[in-house]
Formats: sequence, structure tokens, C-alpha cells
Amino acid sequence: MIIECILTTVSREGEANFAPMGVLWGEDKLTIRPYRETTTFRNLRETGHAVVNLIDDVYCFAQAAIASVRFPAVPAEKVPGVVLADACSWREVEVVEADTEAARGRFDCRVVHRGFRREFLGFNRARHAVLEAAILATRTRMLPIEEILREYERLQVIVDKTAGQREHEAMALLTGYVRQEAAILQEAGG
Ligand SMILES: Cc1cc2nc3c(=O)[nH]c(=O)nc-3n(C[C@H](O)[C@H](O)[C@H](O)COP(=O)(O)O)c2cc1C
Repeated sequence: MIIECILTTVSREGEANFAPMGVLWGEDKLTIRPYRETTTFRNLRETGHAVVNLIDDVYCFAQAAIASVRFPAVPAEKVPGVVLADACSWREVEVVEADTEAARGRFDCRVVHRGFRREFLGFNRARHAVLEAAILATRTRMLPIEEILREYERLQVIVDKTAGQREHEAMALLTGYVRQEAAILQEAGG
């Protein structure tokens, strides 16, 4: 099973990076699969540690999907890294095996520490819809933009039915970004 998280990694120079990532879940072992061009891939290869932050606030996923963003964070306990200040819970992990040759890397990790801060209330339909919208927002240069805009219309219906304010804001942020991308692509295409 793949669990969506905000993954924090740190560069060799000590700069923290925050990225939404799906993590292949296990209690004591996890696998992270970042594409080679991501900062997450570079940091994992260079420093071999990460923090898997579990968080129910989809606005964070939306923000991190469309921009390089720094969230409030505190030092991790057992690995050189940071924990999201708003995380419900987290796993601190160390890479034990890595395959860095393919376009999509594979980092098998061992859980070295678990932390808990607050209850994970759960995901509802709107939150799932925002997650899907966030993933699509990271693929505007890979998938046909008309397809993405159509999917956004469908996801917006779900958000309108079941969202709270935070999910509405997250969807609005993503919609603004995707429309801007569509305009740029249209202009470039003549
Ligand atoms: C919910 C979600 C899950 C994602 N999972 C992955 C993943 O498993 N691997 C990956 O390379 N990108 C994934 N992405 C896309 C990355 O978040 C995106 O490419 C991001 O810009 C990478 O950030 P970085 O360059 O700071 O590491 C995911 C995005 C979202 C919204």
C-alpha cells in the first residue's frame, strides 16, 4: 500500500526540502520512489535520511506540489533532518539500499524512530479529491492539459459537496496554478 506523505530531506549543505511523495508502506521498512530529477532523489542519494510526515492538512500537499515551499519544522530526533511542525505523526528513516540507475529511484529505508503529535482525523472525499488534483498539478508538462482541466471540473464537484474551508482553499490554489499553466502552454503552442 502506498501512503501519501510530506517527505522532508536535507541536502549535503543542510538545507531542508519538503515534497509530497507516495511511500510504499511497511511498519519497520519503507520504500521511497522519487524521480531522478527531484531534489528528494538527490538528497536521499547524498545524505541517506528522510522524515516521512503524516498530515491530514491537504493544503500542505497543494502548496508543496506547485512550488518549492518551506514549512515550519523542528529538528528530527534520530536522523539529520526536520519534522513538520504540523505533522500528526512521523517516521524518521535511514536508507539501507538504493537503486539510483532507473528514471525513478528506489530507496529502501529502515524506520529508526517514530513520533506522534496529534490524532490524524482522516481523509474525506474532498481531501482525496485535492490529493488527486495535487498530483495532476505536478504533471501539467506530462499529460494533455485539456485532460487535466476536465479532471479538475470533476474533482471540483466532489470538493463542493464535502469540503471544509481548508480543502476549498487548497483546491482554489491548485486550480489557479493549473489554469496559469494552461495559459502558458496555449501561448507557447501559438
Ligand atoms: C500526493 C503526491 C504524491 C507524489 N508522489 C511522488 C512519488 O512517489 N515520486 C515522485 O518522484 N514524485 C511524486 N510526486 C510529485 C513530487 O511531489 C513533485 O515532483 C515535487 O516537485 C518533487 O519535489 P522535490 O523536487 O522538491 O523533491 C507526488 C506528488 C503528490 C502531490
